[in-house]
Amino acid sequence: MKGIILAGGAGSRLYPLTRIVCKQLLPVYDKPMICYPLSILMLGGIREICIVSTPRDLPLFEAFLGDGAELGLRFSYVVQVKPEGIAQAFLLAKDFIGGDAATLILGDNVFYGDYFYNEEGFARTVREFKEGGLIFGYYVSNPQEFGVLEFDQDSRVISIEEKPSAPKSNYVVPGLYLYDQQVLEICQHLQPSARGEYEITDVNRTYLNRGQLRVQRLGRGIAWLDTGTPSSLQEANAFIEAVERRQGLKIACLEEIAYRQGFVDRGGFQALTARLPKCDYRHYLERALVQVG
Ligand code: DAU
Repeated sequence: MKGIILAGGAGSRLYPLTRIVCKQLLPVYDKPMICYPLSILMLGGIREICIVSTPRDLPLFEAFLGDGAELGLRFSYVVQVKPEGIAQAFLLAKDFIGGDAATLILGDNVFYGDYFYNEEGFARTVREFKEGGLIFGYYVSNPQEFGVLEFDQDSRVISIEEKPSAPKSNYVVPGLYLYDQQVLEICQHLQPSARGEYEITDVNRTYLNRGQLRVQRLGRGIAWLDTGTPSSLQEANAFIEAVERRQGLKIACLEEIAYRQGFVDRGGFQALTARLPKCDYRHYLERALVQVG
């Protein structure tokens, strides 16, 4: 399974915060936003990851993340010249995907919950993924702002609509998608939508029409947070701060996850911790080393 993080776009709702840097590099409490989606892929056991972003921002991601070797990962970087739609990410990352399945996560989606930190949760979903498309459904109060699912009486999905004015349910599709190799062929045949974008909802609808779309509901114990406006970004900050301070455990701490997942050994983890400036983040990692043993 390959991983793709889409981390471009204009970030216009966050202007002027996004005037010189993209949204996905802005802080969410104590680390850049991209760490959160990246950590989800890592927790899923995905180690080959392609980051897609704008010509302006891609070099910043490269400067921040490097080639991934010190985390036991392999990063590729691909430019999206214009934000022409989420589905375009697959075409841009075609060579990277090769003949594999791919998990796409949006670079501004923050997920948190036991499902992601549990070997039998998301990691298992990724491990056991074989074919078709797999998306998630999450209950929200403002479905009209997302891709919305409609279910029949047997809880089977019968339609998906992008930002409908009259949503058919409160279940929406978060920015985390697993697809088999068909995704490339599907994206090649997409037509731009009325807003001029290659829509991920059209990809999902194609899988649905082919009878090959599975939808897994994420329960209310999972947090899926918005970061697209100053207020929602502020709320995400407060949420991460509250949980981290209460537990004394970090969310989306890439080095810790790489170590716990076995992507780096004890020596590698010690070496990468030693390279950090003396700060709370480093002290946290030093403690994590002792705890994991
Ligand atoms: O967050 C989940 C929602 O994401 C889904 O429920 C919707 O079905 C899906 O269309 C998408 O809706 P958004 O309106 O949130 O998409 P937005 O255009 O804001 O793009 C999401 C992120 O992807 C954003 O951080 C910018 C980035 N992006 C977007 C486009 C269209 C790119 O990097 N390139 C692009 O071409």
